[in-house]
Order: sequence, then C-alpha cells, then structure tokens
Amino acid sequence: MTAPEPARCIVLISGGGTNLQALIDAERDGLPVRIAAVISNEPQAYGLVRARAAGIATRVLSHRGCASRDDYDRALARLIDEFRPTILLLAGFMRILTPRFVAHYRGRLLNIHPSLLPDLRGLHTHRRALESGARVHGASVHFVTDELDGGPVIVQARVPVLPGDQPETLAARVLQREHLIYPLAVRWLAEGRLTLGDDGLPRLDGQILDRPRLLEDEEAPTEGR
Ligand code: GRF
Repeated sequence: MTAPEPARCIVLISGGGTNLQALIDAERDGLPVRIAAVISNEPQAYGLVRARAAGIATRVLSHRGCASRDDYDRALARLIDEFRPTILLLAGFMRILTPRFVAHYRGRLLNIHPSLLPDLRGLHTHRRALESGARVHGASVHFVTDELDGGPVIVQARVPVLPGDQPETLAARVLQREHLIYPLAVRWLAEGRLTLGDDGLPRLDGQILDRPRLLEDEEAPTEGR
C-alpha cells in the first residue's frame, strides 16, 4: 500500500522559530507533512535561517508600509495560497489576523500559545503566571478563530511553576513542552483525525473534544508503539 501524500503545510513566524524547528525535526522523523514554505513578517527572524538550513522555501512579507491590516492579510493570503497548503500554522507569528483571513483557513489554521488557555491570553504570559501565584503553567495548541487566543483548544501541556522561577526559566521549560504538543496536534490534523465542526467544536477521531487533551495523557499510551 502506498503511503498517503503528506499534508502541505505553511508556517508563519516572526521570531526565533524554535517551534518551527520542532516541526522541521518532526517532519524529518516521519510527521506526515511537507513544510512547503516559511513566511515571516520580520526580515530578521532567525526562523528564516532555520528554514533555509532545512532547504525550505522562505518568503518575507513585511507589514511595515502596508496601508491597513486588511491589505496586509489579503497580500499574505495570496502569498500563502501560491503554495496550495492544506494546513497553516502560526508559530510565534506576532500579528492579529483579520476575520476574513481567519475564515479563509477555517479548520486548517492552528496556533500555539504559551499558557493554559483560556487563562492568560495575550502577551507576557510567563511573567503574568508568576505574578498571579499560579503553581501550574503551560502551553496550548488551538484552532484559530476571530477571538484572539480564543479558539477551541486541542491539546495542552502542564508545567509546574518552581520556587525561584523567573519568566525566562519558566518560559524555557514551557517551550520544551510546546515542541512536543505542536507536532502532536499537527499530526492529528494532517492525518484527518482532527476537525473543526460547523458547530465550532473540535473533534478528534469523531469525538467532540469537550476538554483539551493533555500531553501527560498522550505520552504514556504511545510509548513502545
Ligand atoms: C512561543 O512561546 C509560542 O507559544 C508563542 O510564540 C513563541 C514562539 O517561539 N506563540 P519560537 O519562535 O517558536 O521559538
């Protein structure tokens, strides 16, 4: 039996691209995707270097000088669609997207966010987690909808807050878990196991995800497969 074609995937970045690197590594290790291009709004994003090193096409579309958010997102969608992707991944892409853009990629657009959503939407999540006195922090992969960091959450990883943690130390531990949950969710989407229904609810293997899956629960059963 021939293996199904890998899902064509575009990754949008603005920065260092460690999540992009995790996806590149996962593709090399058998994740059924083909990263067709990496697009950044920031010309200096180190993630572009990572992409080129992996032989992936890169494009820069700067938002500076773009008349409106709508203009930028239209140009971005045109650029993306030249690559005919089936999956679009935000990996540290530091822009708010217009409803029109989000609707165009509905059900095939994921984001990773460094908190246990719905807690701590927005920026500076690690500092805010420490300030709140939380004992547990983490990261979430979610479908992107019009609501900023508000789309249905697919999978999360929980990370304990340790005595003496600083935003940087906590961020580093969360990032390690991000690198596990993003490829996991992408695999589900690429394999057609993960969908976003017309009712706005995410489904995994046909079952409504009434709460996000937890990395801790996923790790045990996959061991030794
Ligand atoms: C990550 O913390 C991700 O959750 C957030 O932006 C950061 C990107 O990091 N959306 P990197 O560029 O993947 O290293």
